[in-house]
Amino acid sequence: MDTLLITGASGFLGAEVARRAVAAGWRVVGTYQSRVPEIGGVTWHRLDVTDRVAVAALVEDADPSAVVHTAFARNSWSVNADGAANVALASVGRRLVHVSSDAVFAGRTAPYTEQDTPEPITSYGGSKAAAETAIHAVHPDAVIVRNSLILGDGDSAHEKIIRDLAEGRRDGVLFTEELRCPIHVADLASALLELAGNDHAGVLNVAGPDAVSRYELGVLFAARLGIDPDRLRGGPAPFACPGEIRLDTSLALDLLHTRLRGVRELAA
Ligand SMILES: NC(=O)c1ccc[n+]([C@@H]2O[C@H](COP(=O)([O-])OP(=O)(O)OC[C@H]3O[C@@H](n4cnc5c(N)ncnc54)[C@H](OP(=O)(O)O)[C@@H]3O)[C@@H](O)[C@H]2O)c1
Repeated sequence: MDTLLITGASGFLGAEVARRAVAAGWRVVGTYQSRVPEIGGVTWHRLDVTDRVAVAALVEDADPSAVVHTAFARNSWSVNADGAANVALASVGRRLVHVSSDAVFAGRTAPYTEQDTPEPITSYGGSKAAAETAIHAVHPDAVIVRNSLILGDGDSAHEKIIRDLAEGRRDGVLFTEELRCPIHVADLASALLELAGNDHAGVLNVAGPDAVSRYELGVLFAARLGIDPDRLRGGPAPFACPGEIRLDTSLALDLLHTRLRGVRELAA
């Protein structure tokens, strides 16, 4: 049985990868930072990815044939950039699937392909872009997955914000100018597992086919979330954030068996 090491397996995406990997027959080693979720069949280790020695020791000890790196912290350069470099260094000679983000881009009307280089405008996007650079340098055989907003069945951070805004637990607007191509966590996790089992190297866009603003997402998902769409307010973001980011996923559609569903299909 092959071993899969998942960093951030206690997170939203990592936990879904872990559940699916166990079901698919991998021996799964998962890392957490602050909380251990209840997922059967996973061997858990506490790991801080900024600790280069600890990362190397865990990889050597677990001896995985593949590593899926999902761990991140939104406001931490050291976790996102240095941590990814540590994981890449420790994983040389093993399959590495790194989860990046569409936040490496500034936004434009034309879709971004895998050939587009990062042009981040936020510190989060900058840290994810730096991670990509480190991985290209130390582990050129890795696959770097650029994905978009990750949705679930009402349980993702984005869906919770929409519900909290509609039900008055939170103040604010859903941004109208920031377009993304959201993907369901099950589709992304399935794609990451496929990539753990093949040898595609370099950047790969993995996102849904529908580009929507957060406001459009809220309205589309209202029935699914059990909320009144009239309670949602749209408006511009009160801070600088990337504008329209459409990811061209033609390469992923050719390469992967996983079907990447768009928000319109998910909402139907
Ligand atoms: N969510 C999105 O919409 C979105 C969009 C584009 C890209 N992404 C990318 O997708 C990946 C997963 O996102 P997510 O939403 O699933 O994240 P998440 O739910 O916030 O999970 C983050 C994970 O990282 C772990 N972690 C935090 N600090 C750590 C550290 N210093 N060392 C090791 N582990 C640490 C957390 O552990 P504990 O929970 O145990 O503390 C958790 O398991 C990230 O790489 C993110 O950049 C996400």
